[in-house]
Amino acid sequence: MADSHPERSPIKTLLHPEMAGRVVRVHGWVRTRRDSKDLSFLALNDGSCLETLQVVLQQGQPGWELLEHATTGASVVAVGRLEASPGSGQVVELHPSGLEIPGAAPGDYPLQKKRHGFEYLRSIAHLRVRSNTFGALARVRNTLFFAIHEFFQSRGFLFLPAPIITASDAEGAGEMFRVTTLNLDAVPLLEGRVDYSQDFFGRRAGLTVSGQLEAEVFALACHDVYTFGPTFRAENSNTSRHAAEFWMIEPEMAFALLADNVTLAEAFIRHVLTSVLERCPGDMAFFDERIEKGLLARLHHVLESPFETMTYDEAVRLLEASGEPFEFPVGWGRDLQSEHERYLTEKKIGRPLFVLNYPKDIKAFYMRLNADDRTVAAMDLLVPGVGEIIGGSQREERLEVLQARMEAKGIPTEDYQWYLDLRRYGSTPHSGFGVGFERLLMYLTGLTNIRDVIPFPRTPGVVSF
Ligand code: 4AD
Ligand code: MG
Repeated sequence: MADSHPERSPIKTLLHPEMAGRVVRVHGWVRTRRDSKDLSFLALNDGSCLETLQVVLQQGQPGWELLEHATTGASVVAVGRLEASPGSGQVVELHPSGLEIPGAAPGDYPLQKKRHGFEYLRSIAHLRVRSNTFGALARVRNTLFFAIHEFFQSRGFLFLPAPIITASDAEGAGEMFRVTTLNLDAVPLLEGRVDYSQDFFGRRAGLTVSGQLEAEVFALACHDVYTFGPTFRAENSNTSRHAAEFWMIEPEMAFALLADNVTLAEAFIRHVLTSVLERCPGDMAFFDERIEKGLLARLHHVLESPFETMTYDEAVRLLEASGEPFEFPVGWGRDLQSEHERYLTEKKIGRPLFVLNYPKDIKAFYMRLNADDRTVAAMDLLVPGVGEIIGGSQREERLEVLQARMEAKGIPTEDYQWYLDLRRYGSTPHSGFGVGFERLLMYLTGLTNIRDVIPFPRTPGVVSF
């Protein structure tokens, strides 16, 4: 039966009144089975949508003898006629003429029909995608990927896959995972230090923390480009917003100033938000109901109002005047902590907030030094519920200023000559930013832990699955 006609129909294409009368084949997994004396009802889900298709079996009909195996989690192939459903809760139901159970799921199936906590679901990451929340996430995530490419492609940005193995620490923060083929039990030494000249690449290499530097190379030839790929950070921060492996979207524009960056970032957030709301209404309604009450109202409010902008100076003044009992101190020159960011965007502003012009000492070497000599042309976008989801800047395009900044930050300029060449030859003001894909997904779904929006999260001590 499995390869007989008709062709498989995704369940989401069937749940419409006009489908009644069609003969279809469905493939899915049992969510629940409900039995009465001579009838049995299977709720089948195939991941194409949140809803299940009700399959109704009658005693004596083909497949009835298989029912004992059709327990929660079992896989099912059913062929038959869709009928208008007399019951409430579904418009059509399937009356199968043939039924197969390719894989039973015994009673120890870990995802029985009840509400499970997120912590438990993380321990079964190989099965949690079969639950409502993680199925909805899989679809919203997919839509978001597509909408991101669509946004940049429709504006003529060229997609650049940046390398994953690299020798440059783009953020200069020393958070790179090492990539090596050296024998770690007998590391070759030279004057007491690791002799990387014997390593695979002949020098120290690691996993990329950002594709920005490569995006700058391409922007200074192709004008508007973007990278979108996995990035890795060995920062040992066990928070709900940090992962060791996450995806970043990094547009980079030549002949562009900080203000152009702000404009692009706002348009970007509006586009992906609109796309997800339009294309995943069922899944978003589910998040609104089960994950964050008021999510849809919050997102619509974002679409209806302009984003706010303030300088770091103003942000610090607001924080100092807030009277809030913050855990971390506030003061000019200190970085904004998550609690500060959230106070500003949630309590003070109530919608997305750009903070501009941070002190030069707390930001990366490549950010353009402002005329005040104390701040750089940085741009962070803070959003309620998450805090920072975008970090970006206008880049330092003046060779001498950039060299001086790198030296002040202890960054070995000899390793970055190719990057400095961009300032030696045809330099121009240019700007870009990085969006944390998972943080964006948290913002759109109301989920509060990054471990739940990444299919297979990598955090300190965790690399299962
Ligand atoms: O602010 P970040 O560190 O900026 C950069 O990496 C720049 N090179 C971007 C650019 O200008 N092209 O990171 C950008 C965003 C953050 O705002 C955050 O959303 C996300 O990446 N991010 C993380 N997401 C999850 N886990 C982590 N450990 C993250 N670190 C940064
Ligand atoms: Mg940042």
